[in-house]
Amino acid sequence: MLTPYTFVPQARLLDFMRQAADPTLINLAAGLPSSLSVPKQEIAAAFDRVFQTEADLALGYHSPDGDYALRALIAGRLSGRGVRVRAEEIVMTTGCTQALHGMIRLWARPGDVVACEAPAYYASLEVLGDLGVRVLPIPVRDEQGIDLDWVATLFPKFQPRFLVVCPTLSNPSGATLPPENRKTLLDLCRRSGTRIIEDDIYGELCENAEVQPIRAYDDGTTVAYVSSFSKTVAPGLRLGFCVPGPDYDRFALLKCQQDMHSATFCEAGFRRYLERGTLDDQLGALRKFNRERRELGLNVIAEHFPADAKVWLPAGGFMLWAELVDGTDLETVYRAALAEKVAFCRGNAFYTTPAVPAAMRLNTSRSTPDELVRGLKVLGKILHAQSHTGTPPAQREGGHGDRVHTATTAKHGDHGGKITTSETRA
Ligand SMILES: Cc1ncc(COP(=O)(O)O)c(C=O)c1O
Repeated sequence: MLTPYTFVPQARLLDFMRQAADPTLINLAAGLPSSLSVPKQEIAAAFDRVFQTEADLALGYHSPDGDYALRALIAGRLSGRGVRVRAEEIVMTTGCTQALHGMIRLWARPGDVVACEAPAYYASLEVLGDLGVRVLPIPVRDEQGIDLDWVATLFPKFQPRFLVVCPTLSNPSGATLPPENRKTLLDLCRRSGTRIIEDDIYGELCENAEVQPIRAYDDGTTVAYVSSFSKTVAPGLRLGFCVPGPDYDRFALLKCQQDMHSATFCEAGFRRYLERGTLDDQLGALRKFNRERRELGLNVIAEHFPADAKVWLPAGGFMLWAELVDGTDLETVYRAALAEKVAFCRGNAFYTTPAVPAAMRLNTSRSTPDELVRGLKVLGKILHAQSHTGTPPAQREGGHGDRVHTATTAKHGDHGGKITTSETRA
C-alpha cells in the first residue's frame, strides 16, 4: 500500500535550464519547443504595433492581475475549450512556473499530504519537496494517465489537501486522461476534500479535440487552473496565467509580492498577437509539426534502440517517454551520451523515490531532424552496448501495464493501431 512521505527532490530546474542553454549539445533533454515553430513574423508585427501605438503604457507599471484586454481574450479562448471564466478570474503570471508555484505555495503547509502523478513534472516535485509536504504519488501506468483505482483507494484514506496533475500530455509520460475519466477524478477528489491544481500547459497541443480541461467540469471551487503559452507560442515571452478560483486575491497578493506584475510589454505585444486571430492556425501547424517529429523519433527508436525498449504513444506534443530494460544503468548511459554531446532527460528526475523504472524523456522537436536522428542513434548504440552488460531481457517482468508499446511495434506505418488513433485525432 502506498503511503505519504517527505522526500528530497531528485532534480533541480536550475540545472536543466543551464544545460538547455548549452549550444554544443544535441539536446533531447530540455522540454523546450522548437524555435522553428515560433511565429516570429507575427510576433514581431504585433510588438511593432505596440511600440507605434501604446509605448507609454507598454513600458510602464501596470496592474498585478495583468492586461485586462489580454485576460478577456484568454477567457474567450478558454470558453472555447469548455472553461467558462471571465477576465476578472484570471491573473497573468510570469510563465506557468509562477502560477504553479504560487498555487502550491498558497495551498501547501509543511506536513500536509499532497498527491501527485508518478512520474510528474520535476519542477512541481521540487517545490513540493522543498516545502516539506508528504507526497502521495499516484502511478501513471499507461497513456490513460493517473490511475483512478489508486485515487479511489488512497484518497479517502489519506484525504490529500490537493492533487497536482497535468491531465493532458503529462510531462514526462505524455499520458492524457480520457474525457470520461475527468469527471470521475473530480468527483473522487471532491469526496475526499482534495482540491486540484490542473497544469494544462500542453492542453492545446493535444490532437484529440474531445479533451477538455478538468476545470471545464468544475465550478472553480475544486480546480485551480494554470497554463501558459510557452509550449504553443514562445517560452521566452514568459506568458502564463492562473485561474485561482476563490483564492484569487491571495494568489494576486503573492504574485504582486514576487514581481509586482509580469512584463507589461510582453502582455501588450501578446494581446496584439492574439487580436490578429492567427493562433488557431499556428496551433494546427504546430500539431502537425510535432506529429511529424514524433513519428521521425519513433521510427529511429524502432530501428536503433534495443527491441525491449518501450515507448509510450502520446496524443500530441513533442516528447516521448521510453522505458528501458530493468537493470539499465541510466547514469552510465547518460554520461556516455554526454561524452558524445547528446543529452536526454533521466527518468528518475520525475519521481520522488530513488527506486524507479529506467526511463528517458526525449524531446523530438527542439533539434533539427538530422540532429534528432543522430542523437537517437547515439543513444541506441549506447543502450545496445549496455544491454550486453545489463540484466537480460528475460528477467524483466511486471512492467507498466499492457498499453505500452515496444519500439518495434511503434515503427512508422506499423503502429499496432495506437498511433493511428492519435493520427486521426488531429
Ligand atoms: C508540465 C509543465 N508545467 C509547467 C512548465 C513551466 O512552464 P513555463 O515555461 O510557462 O513557466 C513546464 C515547462 O516545461 C511543464 O512541462
